[in-house]
Amino acid sequence: MNEAAAITEPRAGAGPLRKDAASTAPPPVSPEPAGGDELPFPQDDAPVLFLNGIERHYRQGAGVLEILKGAELAVWPGQSVALVAPSGAGKSTLLHIAGLLEYPDAGEVYIERVATSTMSDSQRTRLRRTEIGFVYQFHHLLPEFSAIENVILPQMIRGLSRKEAANRASELLNYLGLKDRLTHRPSQLSGGEQQRVAIARAVANAPRILLADEPTGNLDPRTSERVFGALTQLVRASGLAMICATHNMDIAARMDRRVTLRDGAVVEME
Ligand SMILES: Nc1ncnc2c1ncn2[C@@H]1O[C@H](COP(=O)(O)OP(=O)(O)OP(=O)(O)O)[C@@H](O)[C@H]1O
Ligand SMILES: [Mg+2]
Repeated sequence: MNEAAAITEPRAGAGPLRKDAASTAPPPVSPEPAGGDELPFPQDDAPVLFLNGIERHYRQGAGVLEILKGAELAVWPGQSVALVAPSGAGKSTLLHIAGLLEYPDAGEVYIERVATSTMSDSQRTRLRRTEIGFVYQFHHLLPEFSAIENVILPQMIRGLSRKEAANRASELLNYLGLKDRLTHRPSQLSGGEQQRVAIARAVANAPRILLADEPTGNLDPRTSERVFGALTQLVRASGLAMICATHNMDIAARMDRRVTLRDGAVVEME
């Protein structure tokens, strides 16, 4: 098995990288909320994630803070999208909604063409566990467990045997250059190593969608370059779709698309 294949297991059908991902602008979307079978995309070329008309506001004292006002974003398999916007613009809010961690006040999140707003909490949790991986700015690894155990655990929660989970965890950590760090606890790893373990953990269950919230935000430029290199390599090798919030324009420049948030809407840059 080659390395890229190892990454896509047990989701061998994740699909090849879209060759035209870099040049693909999202097709125009109808202003009407799309129904389940009437999404504005061809069946054989649908985005894996489609945010349609997302609104989110927060009540703050007597006022209302409108953060997302009809945000729309479609991401296809194998495509990486940089989300670059000023602090407070709503990047984390958008990622939390895309990752089914929060409900929007209006609009719909489609995962593989399926609307998620009417699902039960347990259906949403299952979908999140199987289809979505998260990488946070601060890794959130479990401090009392080793690197490999941190990558084993989410797989066992999903039902894999310890042996299967350990095999995949060590393959992933090898792939990310951490072969000699498997038994280190987070406190015995550098910041960049911790982030790479967090990436391995996020993709351990072979999700279709990876959501990264400033994954290299607290790392020095060289380390962040290395971590990001690992991340893009994984995305391309496995046909994942990634949205990565970042303030780093060098990193954003290397992704397939760049979008920003302007007045609560997602806008393509360039
Ligand atoms: N639970 C909440 N209650 C009230 N306001 C909130 C809440 N969560 C977020 N906000 C506000 O919503 C806005 C968007 O927050 P968000 O965390 O999405 O920004 P961001 O673009 O990720 O910023 P950063 O780059 O600093 O991480 C901010 O102004 C924030 O204060
Ligand atoms: Mg944020």
